[in-house]
Amino acid sequence: MKYTELSPSALAAEYDKVLAEFEGWKAKGLKLNMARGKPGKQQLALSTELLSVLTDPADCVDEGIDARNYGELCGLPCARQFFAELLGCKSSQVFAGGNASLTLMYDTVSKAMTHGMLHSERPWCREEGLKWLCPAPGYDRHFKITESFGFELITVPMTPTGPDMDLVEELIRDPKVKGMWNVPKYSNPDGIVYSDETVRRLASMKPAAPDFLLIWDNAYCVHGFDGAYVPFADILSLCAQYGNADMVIEYASTSKITLPGAGIACFACSEANLAYLQKLMDVQLISYDKINQLRHVRFLRDKAHTLALMEKHAAILKPKFDRVVSILEREIAPLGLAEWNRPKGGYFVSVNTLPGLAKRTVALVKEAGVVMTGAGATFPYGKDPNDSNIRVAPSLPPVEELEQAMEIFCCCLKLAALEQCREQ
Ligand SMILES: Cc1ncc(COP(=O)(O)O)c(C=O)c1O
Repeated sequence: MKYTELSPSALAAEYDKVLAEFEGWKAKGLKLNMARGKPGKQQLALSTELLSVLTDPADCVDEGIDARNYGELCGLPCARQFFAELLGCKSSQVFAGGNASLTLMYDTVSKAMTHGMLHSERPWCREEGLKWLCPAPGYDRHFKITESFGFELITVPMTPTGPDMDLVEELIRDPKVKGMWNVPKYSNPDGIVYSDETVRRLASMKPAAPDFLLIWDNAYCVHGFDGAYVPFADILSLCAQYGNADMVIEYASTSKITLPGAGIACFACSEANLAYLQKLMDVQLISYDKINQLRHVRFLRDKAHTLALMEKHAAILKPKFDRVVSILEREIAPLGLAEWNRPKGGYFVSVNTLPGLAKRTVALVKEAGVVMTGAGATFPYGKDPNDSNIRVAPSLPPVEELEQAMEIFCCCLKLAALEQCREQ
């Protein structure tokens, strides 16, 4: 029965019961973590071979290039080819970089600010009142990048098929709108895969800003854990078909394929964009870590082999996601306190509580020893207008700990809801 349907005395009794349960959890002094999308130890072990795959100096050569030395700013040919196959583009469009795609994204925005994009009339920092489109719920670190450069962040609601495209098409008529964040496959946190129609509408946009930047963060492009591999469009050629070849830059990394923070990352874009960005990057560094690039290609080999590895990740992740959803279904669904997605890939379960419960729930959960992503983090400026979205990251804890953490989460959500009922 829903809490709002309980009599005052039944509500008081339920409150006492849930509070006692909460105090019981607190007394256990647990330290559990469901905060960020980190692979668990079992997943990291899948890449152990990466640590020993390159031991012979004679083996450090790719197409005549010695990976041990300076050079090849755009990355080793084999690393560029690896990402090109993964993303379905040409290797001449790929820049294979260092250990984090987030750095590459930050760097692109930073360069646009200081030097402008390929079609900029002036560096962005010379313009006033710049705005950026942020599909939300979305990735907090994306939002922080554009916030830190002073953009006004414009929230675009996510729908089951991707960002609300009617709104996007209206907003891009404003020349102050310089770009947009996108996680097109298994979005963070909703796990939404953009529909073909959404992708087509994005690729064919005609923004008023001539230097509009569509950031296509394909962080989870091969990260399904439920069902067959889901293919995706090559956004670079799709944009080119619509006369927008230079509008998009795509990003990806091996962070959740091998070892996060010790993987390799890339961006891919039109050859004209790459030539422009390469010139700017040439001032900044001589080359990224090609040893790690080579190590990764030796280990991952190609797309087929990478997908086979992702199936092993999937076998570890799926039971964890299943547990999260089944505990929510058992504990929360009958009370109608929240709704959640059932993702088939990515790293998160996105829970939407009744309005006004998210912050309090996460605070209670913390008191009981479980760290979660801060409520509101999935919205621009960390402000969820409904105080409703909570990002659950089930990958790190072992299943037994995850079960405890979810029991605590459900207990705290109930307690937050009961407190709200009592106040009203
Ligand atoms: C959507 C998205 N992009 C990028 C990243 C970070 O990737 P990297 O480790 O390559 O910087 C994450 C990590 O959670 C993510 O969720």
